[in-house]
Amino acid sequence: MSQQQTDPSQPVPSGDPAGTQVARSTPLRAVVTGASSGIGAATVRHLCRAGWDVVAVARRADRLAALAEETGAQVVVADLTVADDVARLAAEVTAGGPVHALVNNAGGALGTDRVEVSDVERWRRMYEINVLGTLQVTMALLPALRDSGRGDVVVLTSTAAHGTYPGGAGYVAAKHGERVIADTLRLELVGEPVRVIEIAPGMVRTEEFSLTRFDGDQAKADAVYAGVEEPLTADDVADAITWTLTRPHHVNIDHLMIRPRAQASNTLVARKS
Ligand SMILES: NC(=O)c1ccc[n+]([C@@H]2O[C@H](COP(=O)([O-])OP(=O)(O)OC[C@H]3O[C@@H](n4cnc5c(N)ncnc54)[C@H](OP(=O)(O)O)[C@@H]3O)[C@@H](O)[C@H]2O)c1
Repeated sequence: MSQQQTDPSQPVPSGDPAGTQVARSTPLRAVVTGASSGIGAATVRHLCRAGWDVVAVARRADRLAALAEETGAQVVVADLTVADDVARLAAEVTAGGPVHALVNNAGGALGTDRVEVSDVERWRRMYEINVLGTLQVTMALLPALRDSGRGDVVVLTSTAAHGTYPGGAGYVAAKHGERVIADTLRLELVGEPVRVIEIAPGMVRTEEFSLTRFDGDQAKADAVYAGVEEPLTADDVADAITWTLTRPHHVNIDHLMIRPRAQASNTLVARKS
């Protein structure tokens, strides 16, 4: 089933970025959450380069404005843990045209508390953004994704969604919850023109992920990557996301786990002293 319009007078973009094997008369359109930094910002850049129209979403307006200036992306400032913001996001996005992809990337980790001394409030906040944020945005945009005739829901989980590690329980629990949304949604949507894609990265050296996790302590954040030869970059993950989105639409990359060569598991990382 396809509602794509084709226009033979349009050039076929290199690499078939639309994943359609045919030229399109109108670009595909994606919403990327958590676009003000790291993997989200890199994904906006990659998708814009691949010819997509992109809506970039996060809380920090100044960063989104700079990204819009650089890439031409539309922006929506929203806190995805606030229901009214999610409703406004959905209204603004759908008023702007069809939606072909949602990249649920906003999320993160807070602390490395052992279970016996956990900060319950941090667990709650991690659950709110990683699980309930992804849930609410997906619910809000699913009708538009379905209506597009070729929708994609991408969920940025983590290798933490597939195994645990000491000090990781709060984040691991949240990412497991987020993964369950993807796995269940794929079952529920079978037969519909919507793919559900889980991207599960291991160690990615982004500017803010570990800084946020350690309450702004740069030394602790740097220690995460100390001696690790070439952790993944935001570009590596954005490249993988873009690859999954640009496969022909009958090809669903269910799960893609991606780690740096120097990392064999959540707990086994090669470090040079
Ligand atoms: N870095 C890694 O090692 C790694 C590994 C595996 C998976 N991941 C996952 O990949 C995703 C991106 O990670 P990253 O390294 O790029 O992290 P990051 O640089 O810290 O980016 C997180 C993004 O989420 C946004 N965000 C946070 N809370 C939000 C809220 N309430 N409403 C809207 N936006 C919110 C932030 O923007 P604002 O603050 O402007 O709102 C920011 O743009 C996360 O889901 C993370 O769990 C990261």
